[in-house]
Amino acid sequence: MRATLIWDIPTRLFHWSLALSFAGAWLTSESDRWLSVHVFLGYQMMGLIVFRLFWGFLGTHYARFSAFWFSPGEALEYLRQVLSRTAQRHLGHNPTGSLAIYMLLALTLVVAGTGFFTLGAEEQHGLAAGWMGISQGRIFKSLHELSANLMLLLVFGHLAGVVVESWLHRENLARSMLTGSKLADASALVVRPRGLVAASMVVLMLGFGIWWFFYALHAPPEPQTGRPAPTLTAPGVAFVGPKLADNAQWREECGSCHLAFHPSLLPRRSWSRIMSEQGQHFGTDLALDGPTTTALLTFLTANSADQRKTEPATKIDLSVAAGTVPLRITETPYWVKKHRDITAADWQSPKVKSRSNCAACHLDAGSGTFEDAAMRLP
Ligand code: HEC
Ligand code: HEC
Repeated sequence: MRATLIWDIPTRLFHWSLALSFAGAWLTSESDRWLSVHVFLGYQMMGLIVFRLFWGFLGTHYARFSAFWFSPGEALEYLRQVLSRTAQRHLGHNPTGSLAIYMLLALTLVVAGTGFFTLGAEEQHGLAAGWMGISQGRIFKSLHELSANLMLLLVFGHLAGVVVESWLHRENLARSMLTGSKLADASALVVRPRGLVAASMVVLMLGFGIWWFFYALHAPPEPQTGRPAPTLTAPGVAFVGPKLADNAQWREECGSCHLAFHPSLLPRRSWSRIMSEQGQHFGTDLALDGPTTTALLTFLTANSADQRKTEPATKIDLSVAAGTVPLRITETPYWVKKHRDITAADWQSPKVKSRSNCAACHLDAGSGTFEDAAMRLP
């Protein structure tokens, strides 16, 4: 028996890149702030699967589907043999492991695909932007979460398989996926490492990563507020969607005491109430004349949350109960839910002070877009 190359470099690179991307995507799935990284990893996983499908035909012996094409019956039979400790050692993938691999490949495509549609619908970003309305993204988001959970389960199953199999045949399978080699006798097939293919993969992934970094970091539109361009720190800002409605008079009249809150952040009826009660606006008198009031009201109601042009608009509108007329954005259930995890210390920070000081944490507050990746806790 001597150390023999079983897994070519592209197969190993695929394996570990997919594992790391999945772990990374999982870790960045909870907070909206990491969306740009999360989406990057999703595209990367999609690309990796496409590569693996090709490599299943063009790769070296053990990487080919033909080398691990077992029926579900054989997979179950092998599992039974493992339990009775009579299972034979396989140099390539064993029948049960193969089944897990096919399921993982298919699920990765489902996870990445549903993520792609969620991004297009809910965030109106990416290639699928504009294909669907924002609320239609919900079904994809549920499927995305469901398939990702299934995938995690499968990953644990796969890990358990690796541990059991390593123990059963007294070999370290995780290490052989790293080094590529296993102990085999002289009759074993010898495969070529295929370093050039692996090098091309690295170049592609690095290139995509660098391109994404700059794509994701392009500055949010903030010309209106006069704030200096924010210094951007990775991981980034961006994914700037379509530009929202703007109005100079509104910026001047409603932006002098606080940020001019974009009309898309409250429903129509709220703006009507705010404008009709402008004489007693949170303890101050706005003292606007008739024509100004009418002009502002027209702009505010024409671009209100009911129009559902952005994700925040849609979700704020959906969260506000039909009979209620919130006068504050910060009172709407969606806003409350999204900011629940922020600590008292963060709210009291001298850079924040008030909940309605949106611009302290949202680099794009002035434009009203509230992109996930443009959030910062000061
Ligand atoms: C004279 C100063 C002043 C002007 C001008 C002004 N506001 Fe306000 N506004 C306030 C104050 C004070 C608050 C309460 C802020 C707080 O509690 O942090 C407030 C709060 C708000 C809020 C609630 C923010 C939240 O907590 O969700 C909205 C919405 C709002 N203003 C809309 C407007 C609109 C629309 C205009 C223009 C027609 C306008 N404001 C002009 C002083 C002003
Ligand atoms: C202290 C910092 C801070 C302030 C002030 C703040 N936010 Fe946020 N906001 C956050 C953070 C952090 C998140 C992301 C929570 C998460 O990761 O899920 C968030 C999330 C959001 C989201 C959800 C974005 C999405 O698409 O999922 C919206 C909309 C939003 N904020 C609007 C506002 C508005 C409007 C104001 C002002 C009235 C405001 N925020 C004030 C920190 C802040």
